[in-house]
Amino acid sequence: MALSLDEAFKDACMQILDTNSLVRVVLSGRRRNMSTEHERIDIRPVEIKTAVLLQLSYGDGSANTVKNLAPEYGWIFDLLASGYAHILVEQTEGSTSIRITKRGDAQRHYEKRSLTQNLDHDKKKRRLLDPSDPFLLEVGIADHKGLIKPSKKDKYMQVEEFLRLLVPTLESAIAGGDIHQPTEKAPLSIVDLGCGHAYLTFAAHQYLSSIGVPVMVTGIDLRAASRERNNTIAQNLGISSTITFRAEEIATTTAQHADVVIALHACDTATDDTIAWAVNGGAKLLLIAPCCHHDIQQQMQESPEPWGAVTKFGLMKERLGDLITDSLRAQILRIMGYRVEIIEFIGGEHTPRNLMIRAVKSDASPEAIELLRYRQICTQWGIKPALEKKLPSFFIG
Ligand SMILES: C[S@@+](CC[C@H](N)C(=O)[O-])C[C@H]1O[C@@H](n2cnc3c(N)ncnc32)[C@H](O)[C@@H]1O
Repeated sequence: MALSLDEAFKDACMQILDTNSLVRVVLSGRRRNMSTEHERIDIRPVEIKTAVLLQLSYGDGSANTVKNLAPEYGWIFDLLASGYAHILVEQTEGSTSIRITKRGDAQRHYEKRSLTQNLDHDKKKRRLLDPSDPFLLEVGIADHKGLIKPSKKDKYMQVEEFLRLLVPTLESAIAGGDIHQPTEKAPLSIVDLGCGHAYLTFAAHQYLSSIGVPVMVTGIDLRAASRERNNTIAQNLGISSTITFRAEEIATTTAQHADVVIALHACDTATDDTIAWAVNGGAKLLLIAPCCHHDIQQQMQESPEPWGAVTKFGLMKERLGDLITDSLRAQILRIMGYRVEIIEFIGGEHTPRNLMIRAVKSDASPEAIELLRYRQICTQWGIKPALEKKLPSFFIG
């Protein structure tokens, strides 16, 4: 149902102020020609010393900020009107999703549901992957007692936190119409490139299936042994009709297309192959956690001054090389029409390779300054990123 923004915001405010039934609110996406302070804000009611407050949480890439505010019409209305394109209000009886169109009106959809309210102040982080899930035993992360093997704890955490970011990003992309609503006939296609032992591949398949998202998942790795092992696991789990593995190079994979492309620690320029494959195939959502970065580091022969002050220290030069590599990857994605964020997907104690490039395809045209910045950085450092060479020349010149 279409209605004016004012009407939609007022109604949503009233729903949010009804803290007896409010479950949660999610603000995401950006309205045309507007910018928002945070990529996404989650709001839920919490009980603190007998008063019910609204807890706002939002991340800036590395840290999550939480604020508890008294429910008041004024700030809630201002927040709803501050530029978010998707507003989801969940109540115990149902959920209302509001999508603000490019024309500037609101499309509202209500779905009757039965949801439970949780007013706990310090909500414990809920595990997405139950350690006793049979797939974790099959892939070798858990033992027969349903306990995570100590040697696999870090990988388990990486996969869990990766999913924690994938799921809301996906929900927002579906709510915003960037990705179609997956159905049994038209499932969400996900490709995991450089999947290795497929911990993430199976986790994405199992978790999304468990929350009712029909998926078709493909894992690609150049090693034939990985393909054999992973296809056998899929058969053992009885899911081989919706998850398959291929032993192929990413750059020349026969996989055709994906709505969502994921990669966890694909080595060096395999990450660039991944991004190039995703962009060339028009993937809507990319979540890429890069691994080692040799390509640019090897090209950084002479530092433009005054950067010599940094690169004279080997360690700093290496880290700067990593930063330049991922910044230029993000810049290329921006130029190709993606909305990009670089975030830490997990604490550094679980992996030093804890950065993630998250990109959502948008129809906004990039500003000319972005290409200019990209070119200037490359010229100053005398570098040409591997990714640029893998994309059609007319985009990057
Ligand atoms: C560090 S492992 C990560 C595996 C898995 N994603 C994980 O997080 O456990 C990198 C994987 O990428 C694969 N790989 C590296 N370069 C590749 C390429 N060009 N094409 C396909 N697979 C590649 C390797 O065989 C290896 O299994």
